[in-house]
Amino acid sequence: MRVPPNLADPRAMGTPVDWVSLRPELDGIPGEGFNLAWSAIERHARGPRSAQTALRFVARDGKRRTLTYVELARAVRRCAGAFRRLGVRKGDTVFLLLPRCPELFTAAFGALECGALVAPLFSAFGPEPIRTRLELGRGKILVTAAALHARKVKPIAGSLRELAHVIVVEDERIPLPPGTLGFASLLARESEEFAIERTQPQDPALLHFTSGTTGKPKGAVHVHGAALMHWLSGKYALDLHPDDVFWCTADPGWVTGTSYGILAPLLIGVTSVVDEGEFDAERWYRILAEEGVTVWYTAPTAIRMLMKAGPAAARAHDLTRLRFVASVGEPLNPEAVWWGQEVLGLPIHDNYWQTETGGIVIANVPALDIKPGSMGQPLPGIEAFVVKRGRDGAVEHLEGPDVQGELALRAGWPSMFRAYLGEEERYEKCFAGELYLTGDLVRRDADGYFWFVGRADDVIKSAGHLIGPFEVESALLEHPAVAEAAVIGKPDPLAGELVKAFVSLKDSVLPSQELRAELLAFARKRLGPAVAPKELDFRPSLPRTRSGKLMRRLLRARELGLPEGDLSTLENSPPL
Ligand code: PRX
Repeated sequence: MRVPPNLADPRAMGTPVDWVSLRPELDGIPGEGFNLAWSAIERHARGPRSAQTALRFVARDGKRRTLTYVELARAVRRCAGAFRRLGVRKGDTVFLLLPRCPELFTAAFGALECGALVAPLFSAFGPEPIRTRLELGRGKILVTAAALHARKVKPIAGSLRELAHVIVVEDERIPLPPGTLGFASLLARESEEFAIERTQPQDPALLHFTSGTTGKPKGAVHVHGAALMHWLSGKYALDLHPDDVFWCTADPGWVTGTSYGILAPLLIGVTSVVDEGEFDAERWYRILAEEGVTVWYTAPTAIRMLMKAGPAAARAHDLTRLRFVASVGEPLNPEAVWWGQEVLGLPIHDNYWQTETGGIVIANVPALDIKPGSMGQPLPGIEAFVVKRGRDGAVEHLEGPDVQGELALRAGWPSMFRAYLGEEERYEKCFAGELYLTGDLVRRDADGYFWFVGRADDVIKSAGHLIGPFEVESALLEHPAVAEAAVIGKPDPLAGELVKAFVSLKDSVLPSQELRAELLAFARKRLGPAVAPKELDFRPSLPRTRSGKLMRRLLRARELGLPEGDLSTLENSPPL
């Protein structure tokens, strides 16, 4: 069914927005304060949408469970009460390591109602990435599921001194682990009233970990006021209307699944579908059809997997309710846009953002003609530039009808990250005066469309997930046979990139197929399947610059048969 788009005039793209004047759209807390949980849940629960379905869960076995806005609000208040009783105060951090289940939503909003920061973790992480993030984020509470606890939390919980409580969502098949608290039994003791923390728009609300080329993961902090951007981008880039049935396929352990799987749909007041199962083409088409999904937000890897499954799989289902499809996270190839048109009857609208931007900043909105392969244009409220960084740190604006350089955004949109937790210098380095530098290389064409060219750093994008090579290398180095490790992204037709490791062994150790398999299994156990390398090669030594930095780009160029570029800084190259 056609509905007029929320943003009818594409000339509004990139024009200024008075963010403060938009705040009343999201109703602050009566009296005083602005809290994401109020705007997303409480105001609907107390208004005309209270009985509307907020969330429709599809369990692995296909069974459905729904929560209306008022039911969700009641559970959230109980949860907030339980957290408060356990000592959670404004500014504390509550970590979530959960599958896509109702308790994930209850706990996220419960923490927000307490004024705590919510830090989601991906349930496919292994114990090592979980430990690193809990430690960096000084997690006070971790909410997890019984099945995840034994494999991922038990081995590390003892070493986390600041972790005061582990709360486990009960599972009738698994006894509650000793030393943990049961989620449902905690909530059962609480009342359905809770005095929501009167946070302000600038107060921290979310902590998302992301990866750089070097060092530990970075904790990007977002504030309650980010709600304005989630709301505006949900309306304009995803064209959400209150009557929509929306499905965001991303896991809330990653930022897309939080901003657009949890926050944006509820801020706008739609019905959101949450699938607890994993990707399966038949299952996904069935969900689209049976749930009557009208707006669908997914990722290029998923679309490529659907393309692989063939058009017959789609045509077996009635997808006529679907009216808008968008994708994010990695380059969307033009064939995928055309495939959407042919098989779904709708083109796929690519959009762009980052953990740091907190929400969509560049998009193919419905009113804009799609240029397949392009990410679209800056949303209202976003000023985007193409720049070149000089050696002295100065930034030069590249003007002209067709330019290529680094994407920069004028600081100040509401969901911009406000810190890398505890790393002020790293944060400051992302800015040049008024500009936030994204680290992505783009082209802006004569019509003002932005095209993704590549990343300026060595970070890997696999199946839409951002993976820091350093984290993978550190895990490999823990194996007693490994002397050096370097990790690159190797192009892959389905996942975009896959993680490939190069390893040099200690003097006494010889390479073998068995050792290769052992190292891959070692990394997988520590890092989990989403992060661990899929391929591993041995090298007598790894290329480094004279100052000792790994030259991952050279390994990548050699692996792919690309030009090796400037080798003058290679450690063992002749001096110039
Ligand atoms: O390199 C860009 C790529 O994903 C990065 C952000 O990843 P992350 O922080 O995990 O945020 C996920 C939320 C989208 C960007 O720096 N990226 C994002 N969108 C696109 C993209 N690359 C190409 N095309 C896109 N549409």
